[in-house]
Amino acid sequence: MALTFRDVVILPGWVEVEPGEVDVQTRVTTNYRLNIPLISSPMDTVTESEMAIALARQGGLGVLHRNCSIKEEVEMARRVKRAESLIIRDVVTITPDTTVGEAVELMEKYRISGLPVVEGDKLVGIVTERDVRFADPRLLARDVMTRELITAQEGITIEEAKEILQKYRIEKLPVVDEEGRLRGLITVKDIMLRGKFPHAARDEEGRLLCAAAVSPFDLERAKKLDKYVDILVVDVAHFHNKRCFEATARLLREVQADVVVGNIGTYKAAEDVITKLDGVAGLRVGIGSGSICVTMEVVKAGSPTLYATAQAADAVATYGADIPIIADGGVRNPGDVAVALAVGASAAMMGSVFAGCREAPGELVAIGGRYYKRYRGMASPSARAKRYAIDRYMAKGIAEGVEGWVPYRGDVASVVEEFVSGLKAAMGYAGAKTIKELREKAKLAVLTEAGSREASPHSILLPSERTLETR
Ligand code: XMP
Repeated sequence: MALTFRDVVILPGWVEVEPGEVDVQTRVTTNYRLNIPLISSPMDTVTESEMAIALARQGGLGVLHRNCSIKEEVEMARRVKRAESLIIRDVVTITPDTTVGEAVELMEKYRISGLPVVEGDKLVGIVTERDVRFADPRLLARDVMTRELITAQEGITIEEAKEILQKYRIEKLPVVDEEGRLRGLITVKDIMLRGKFPHAARDEEGRLLCAAAVSPFDLERAKKLDKYVDILVVDVAHFHNKRCFEATARLLREVQADVVVGNIGTYKAAEDVITKLDGVAGLRVGIGSGSICVTMEVVKAGSPTLYATAQAADAVATYGADIPIIADGGVRNPGDVAVALAVGASAAMMGSVFAGCREAPGELVAIGGRYYKRYRGMASPSARAKRYAIDRYMAKGIAEGVEGWVPYRGDVASVVEEFVSGLKAAMGYAGAKTIKELREKAKLAVLTEAGSREASPHSILLPSERTLETR
């Protein structure tokens, strides 16, 4: 029997834990941890840089979509990685011959307020917004740049950097090596952001964690993204497929990033990944449960996310594999996340929920006095028309997704807060202090049809309904 989120409840357990003690930290791949177990889907109405930045700042992770050119996806990844860090490594620089006009354009393009000036790789000056604000755009960087530079050496700590920035009242501190070559840049903005988002998911250099979707057949895209992202997500609708396995085996040999593969839905698929592919760092599971999916309806094939998670977890346990599982599709509320974690997921991926956030791509639309945002399946007719992600689906002629609108939910921070509080409450009922304990302790029970109807509000006239539901 392939059970779904709506078929089960978590039975209340013996509780010794206080709500404040519940900890929702998790692992998303073999090498990366998150502070909350929430991930946004690689879909073009869900995750571009703004969503990825917002979610990583809350401690989760965004997976950039691939329904765009390689250049556009790489640009999104760069933006996430540049959003904050202790030391920016991918510094945008100019030369003494760059014009003020070009410098201003660069600052606008990358949304930054200063550019180190280099000759070869030697640092010779810095141009900041203040230097160019009223300057003639035809002047050269050498005419307006500050030459007397305060710099720092590699290995500087945050506290030391703060002291220098304060002492000299400067906003930017270039990091140079012994020969005066530029090695990075420390900014006041980054240090302040670090304080503002203490739970952010970061890499070891203090940059936000970033993941990006790729096709297993697009090695060029994977290799270009590999320079920037921490995690690559091999993104196909049905990964348990000879060609996908062969292409992914090649990809795994060529990239440094952690590689998540999916989607898969059965024990056998997880077993084959574990035994036939070397170095996979995560499994993305669930086929056809997504709110925009019509796969199960149209082609009668699929594996509901709850069932798929339990299957993959069984295979991981049987082989003692150290591979985290991401439950993807069909999550509507915090309880669904709790159930997914209880059966063995390390994190839940959500499309619909995050599509309704301010940080998702697209404008707000007002329909019948309420606000909505557009949301579409990656196999919907209009997403397929862009063609970049068309290889995600097997049957090229059938639309396996729909498109429409989801209610506006405000910003990511408030949605995360709602989900984390709900998840902690569910963990509290199960008596679990950590996600690991939830997996060990939670007991699920299957609801009957009557039970799942009883689980929703009943015998009350709700503002959203026209007639009294007396079920
Ligand atoms: P939710 O329920 O969170 O699901 O909106 C998001 C997940 O759905 C998958 N996805 C699709 N599945 N047709 C499908 O069968 C589609 O057009 C489609 N687009 C996305 C994907 O796994 C996503 O994370």
